[in-house]
Amino acid sequence: MLPELRIVNPDELAQAAAAAVAEQLTNAVSRLGRARLALAGGGTPRPTYHALATSPHLEEVPWADVDVYFGDERCVPAEDPSSNFRMAQEALLSHVAIPASNIHRIRGELAPEDSARAYARVLGDTPLDIVLLGLGGDGHTASLFPETPLMSDKSVLATQSPIAPHRRVSLGLGPINAANVVIFLVAGVGKAERVAEIHAQIASGKPVLPAAYVQPVHGRLIWFLDTHAASMLPPLESS
Ligand code: 6PG
Repeated sequence: MLPELRIVNPDELAQAAAAAVAEQLTNAVSRLGRARLALAGGGTPRPTYHALATSPHLEEVPWADVDVYFGDERCVPAEDPSSNFRMAQEALLSHVAIPASNIHRIRGELAPEDSARAYARVLGDTPLDIVLLGLGGDGHTASLFPETPLMSDKSVLATQSPIAPHRRVSLGLGPINAANVVIFLVAGVGKAERVAEIHAQIASGKPVLPAAYVQPVHGRLIWFLDTHAASMLPPLESS
């Protein structure tokens, strides 16, 4: 299954992605009564989180019925500047009417293996409705790196990043590919070569890089790209 590509101007990416996330959350709550959302870390999602915390999305998303999880976390305390939880708190969660009990952070202060085991229990077996992901320059996503044993049957993994902070905890491919909708957020010309490489791997059915293994079993796969990140895709795909 080829991903759905949403290629937009750089200054439109945050709003376009926020609208899609808000729509998916609202649909999930209306269908199921609740929605389970896993947030991405890194820097790219921040403007999208800000747009979600701003009108009209601020009012339209039923946050009281949304459970927020994290795709991955650095093994640092929650208040550490490199914490994905802290970034999400600052950009989104502290601005919306979401009960603290709905926010399920990965406990980065624990030893990685203990944190991974604990989070697998928190996550449970119910599929996530929406998983947001970023893309690293080496083709990683969440904290699944090229050296990570991707075929692990664990739902949550302790992994090693070549980029500090080195110790990470990440959702495995299982929960990601079981999700109803997976949305990548990728911006900048620095990601263009990897985007093209990953899409070629998906199209050929020969995934190598971790992000190419993200292929939801039953759900939708949407890549939100700005025009720079999409600039090396074959003309047909980037039209
Ligand atoms: C993290 C993220 C990671 C990130 C990519 C892209 O914890 O860093 O989960 O997978 O999404 O590294 O990061 P940028 O968006 O900052 O380029």
